[in-house]
Amino acid sequence: MAKKNIVLIGFMGCGKTTVGKELAKNLNFYFVDIDYMIQKDQNKSIEKIFEVFGEEYFRKLEKNMCYKVSNFKNYVISTGGGVVKEEQNIINLKKSGVIVYLKATPQKIYENLKYDNKRPLLKNKDKFKAICDLLEQREYLYEKYADMVFNIEDNSPFVLARNIKSDIQCIL
Ligand code: S3P
Repeated sequence: MAKKNIVLIGFMGCGKTTVGKELAKNLNFYFVDIDYMIQKDQNKSIEKIFEVFGEEYFRKLEKNMCYKVSNFKNYVISTGGGVVKEEQNIINLKKSGVIVYLKATPQKIYENLKYDNKRPLLKNKDKFKAICDLLEQREYLYEKYADMVFNIEDNSPFVLARNIKSDIQCIL
C-alpha cells in the first residue's frame, strides 16, 4: 500500500490536533484523533480511563486504536504523546502513513500546557519537571520513528500545516 496517511507524533501540547485538522483541510484529507476515538469508544474521558483502569489499560486501548486507524486511507492521524512507547504502534502506523514529528522545547510545551489539567501524566506534579523528565525519556523515540521533523517554534498551526503540506506532497 502506498503511503496514504500522515501521522502526527510528538509530546503533549505540541499542537498535533490543531495542526492535524488544518493540514487535513489543506490536503482535502479526513482527520482522526486517536484519543478522541478512544474516548468515544469507551464513552469516557482519557482522564477517567486513567483514573479508573490505569495507564496500562489505556495503552492497550491505544494499541488497538492504532491498529484500527492504520487501515484507514487519506487521513491525517493525530496520536497521543505516548504512542511511541509501544513499537508495534509505529510499525502499524508506518505501513500506511508518513510519520511527522512536531518537535517542541520543554519551555514551549510548558507554555502551552500551564493551565491544562486534563493530562493525567502531568497531574499533581511539578509540571515543568514532569514535562522535562518525560520528554527526556521519549525524545529519542520521536526522532527515531519520524520520517520528517518540524520544529513548532513560534509558528502558528496555520503556518505549520502549510509547511508540512508543501514538504510532504512529493512523497505521498
Ligand atoms: C499521553 C498523551 C495524551 C493522552 C494521554 C497520555 C502521553 O495525548 O494520550 O493523556 O502519554 O503523553 P496528547 O499528546 O494529545 O496530550
